[in-house]
Amino acid sequence: MTTLAQYLETHATPQIASVITTLATTSTAISNLLDKGALAGIHGEAGGENVQGEAQKKLDVISNDLLLNALIHNPNCAGVASEELEDISPANTDGTLLVTFDPLDGSSNIDINMTVGTIFSVLPQKNTGNTATEADFLQAGTNQVAAGYFIYGTSTMLTLTLGKGVAMFSFDPLSQTYILINDNVQVSKTTAEYAINASNRRYWLAPMQQYIEELTQGDTGVRNKDYNMRWVAAMIADVHRILIRGGVFMYPFDTKIAGKAGKLRLMYEGNPMAFVIEQAGGLATDGVKRIMEYQPTHIHQRVPVVLGASDEVEYVKALHEKMGVGASGEAL
Ligand code: F6P
Repeated sequence: MTTLAQYLETHATPQIASVITTLATTSTAISNLLDKGALAGIHGEAGGENVQGEAQKKLDVISNDLLLNALIHNPNCAGVASEELEDISPANTDGTLLVTFDPLDGSSNIDINMTVGTIFSVLPQKNTGNTATEADFLQAGTNQVAAGYFIYGTSTMLTLTLGKGVAMFSFDPLSQTYILINDNVQVSKTTAEYAINASNRRYWLAPMQQYIEELTQGDTGVRNKDYNMRWVAAMIADVHRILIRGGVFMYPFDTKIAGKAGKLRLMYEGNPMAFVIEQAGGLATDGVKRIMEYQPTHIHQRVPVVLGASDEVEYVKALHEKMGVGASGEAL
């Protein structure tokens, strides 16, 4: 039996190990609150009151505060950026690592007792000795030194990459530690399962419309096999399913809201999940281009996402090329 602490001792630098340990410790606090559910007064909107008349805080606000507070007190952490906060938070000037996180991905699932999770990405701080700024965070995903997610589902788990494959850990409530359950997670090359919010269909670009049309035609169409569809509405859960039993996940560019290229955020969702999926042998693109090669221009920028089974991700890219349409509508 290998604990997370033992795994980190042999696989990570002391600095990265320390930051992952801080994240893991905080995740157990979040997991405990989720276990208590309504009894912890975490349901409903922030600013509301529970039945006892006490102030309620939504769990995404609480999770954000817990993670931010823990990370800025870690001496190895130079700065933190959260999906929930407009500005980055500088931490320790001598720190060598920057952390971005989505404290509670899929948070609309909390009130209905469904899966949510915490996604994180660790980048090197190249300006050690100076107060971290947003510019320090604007690095391509290929620079990530660690990434992963904590999933709070029927059990709590951690999926982690340090750039040499993907490991999965399961949280043991008795010992309050994460235990390694798979040190070589692999995404299968082929799949017959896809995940997309199909209600956005009319807002997609032509190649994505064509792709989903072909999948829904099943064995009566050009793909010549039937596909199944799943959508948990929490990226964390859809990606977790893909790591366990295969699949392709998409949140493509759409024209639903002017000026928003799809929904997901590059620094908090796109890059960390792309790092995990690629390290497990899958692919992660915007439909055409590798997500981890995006040069970020803004900490909260959005990115179209197509990730998972390499055969499907390549098929989507080929359709875009055949139709001469880039992932965000530009001509190819
Ligand atoms: O980023 C937020 C998120 O909750 C993702 O985790 C999830 O994949 C997506 O939004 C769900 O979007 P929709 O509300 O369109 O189903």
